[in-house]
Amino acid sequence: ARTAAVIPAAGRGVRLGPGAPKALRPLNGMPMLVHAVRAMAGSRSVSLVVVVAPPDGADEVQRLLDAYPLTGRSADVVVVPGGETRQESVRLGLAVVPEDISTVLVHDAARPLVPVDTVDAVITAVRDGAPAVVPALPLADTVKQVEPRTGERAGEPEPVVGTPERARLRAVQTPQGFDRATLVEAHAKIALEGDGATDDAGMVERLGVEVVVVPGHEEAFKVTRPLDLVLAEAVLARRRA
Ligand code: CTP
Ligand code: MG
Repeated sequence: ARTAAVIPAAGRGVRLGPGAPKALRPLNGMPMLVHAVRAMAGSRSVSLVVVVAPPDGADEVQRLLDAYPLTGRSADVVVVPGGETRQESVRLGLAVVPEDISTVLVHDAARPLVPVDTVDAVITAVRDGAPAVVPALPLADTVKQVEPRTGERAGEPEPVVGTPERARLRAVQTPQGFDRATLVEAHAKIALEGDGATDDAGMVERLGVEVVVVPGHEEAFKVTRPLDLVLAEAVLARRRA
């Protein structure tokens, strides 16, 4: 019952603004990706971490990881080049996970501060028999569905077409955990439009396989926009205090 973690880290981080690829930006002096690798390797169950680097950046990422070796009880770390979409990057990472690994986590490099207890809760739920598990939190904001304006009317205020009941909504995080064969099948069979899938569990849902949620954690937030960097540094300062 070995577990591997695939970390997609091939994105540019457009919403974070100009600079190095998002996963390579420092948080408290250490690249975000290194925080994410340590978060996965920190679980006693994780024996392999697959880092999916920017398509032309695998050598640079390998050098960076060599500069921040894991200490203590640790996992093997391998680096592979990623693709144009997150979905493609995950597929490329999954391709190097050996057959004898039964549980696979997929974890965004952009969620560097996920606590080990959350990682372990996901792994435990998969080992207890769930084929797909996502950590999730209730929403603070009410969510509206809108009809995007196109053509002539682009730029005009968008009309609201619905308000889903907030109590039944969840914001999902990573690591998402899977029975390996289920995730491999999803990536082989399910192709989604546009930017690809924003989440792996969504692809498994399309197979008709049940996905379940376990409690997420507020520190597993995704670093997406500049304010998130401020929050991440503050979380690290609080941990040191
Ligand atoms: N990702 C990836 N390959 C891609 C696109 C995204 O591996 N082609 C990864 C990112 O590196 C990140 C995770 O998927 O760890 C979640 O994506 P997101 O937060 O959207 O990061 P970016 O795509 O880099 O950011 P943006 O969408 O703002 O450009
Ligand atoms: Mg993106």
